[in-house]
Amino acid sequence: MTGKEFAEEMLGRVRAFCQSYDARPPAYSYVPLKTDEQRIKVMKSRLFNEVRSAEIFGGWLKSTPELDVKATLAEAVHEEMRHAALLEQQIRERGAEPYDYRPLPAQMAMFNAFEGLTETVERMAAFPMAGEGVADYMIVKSLRADSVPEWIKAPYRAINEDEETHGNYPAEVLTKHATTPERQERVRRAVEMSLMLRRQYFENLDRWVFEGREW
Ligand SMILES: [Fe+2]
Ligand SMILES: [Fe+2]
Repeated sequence: MTGKEFAEEMLGRVRAFCQSYDARPPAYSYVPLKTDEQRIKVMKSRLFNEVRSAEIFGGWLKSTPELDVKATLAEAVHEEMRHAALLEQQIRERGAEPYDYRPLPAQMAMFNAFEGLTETVERMAAFPMAGEGVADYMIVKSLRADSVPEWIKAPYRAINEDEETHGNYPAEVLTKHATTPERQERVRRAVEMSLMLRRQYFENLDRWVFEGREW
């Protein structure tokens, strides 16, 4: 399989995962939420993700030999911190404290798992492609939903614009570098790992938001 065919297969896998939520969107998407208390909980969880993403992209800089990928990571660090600032402001304007959040078990596991990947193609597939791919899909869902108030849509419109500009970047990296059966096999497992942990994170978040479950 060529790198391009393989990249398309992985994109298809991520798309199928996203569509598995169409009938019942998770709390993460804000779509099923009814109160601002629930919405602030989700936004705090997602603020944590923005900062944690910046940390991980920054941590990968030195061990990424490909200069084009290194440059993209460096930009992403700044971008994620900008996203964090947008969400932080919305939370503060609603009288809540943005940084008293305690990450959910599966959320910690997901980011720790990304952090542990050592190869550029695995990293790009697991996080920017599968991880951010799902996040972007859910952002578009929230922007289209009547049940989501404007104070949530406003920051995500800006975030979505950023993410759209480099949306096909991970597929380009896979097209170029995931060209051997061994690499493709490792990437395939990294994508499955990412999606499985993402599903667990969505479940944890649903339980915290809807049932008040604490860990
Ligand atoms: Fe972000
Ligand atoms: Fe991002």
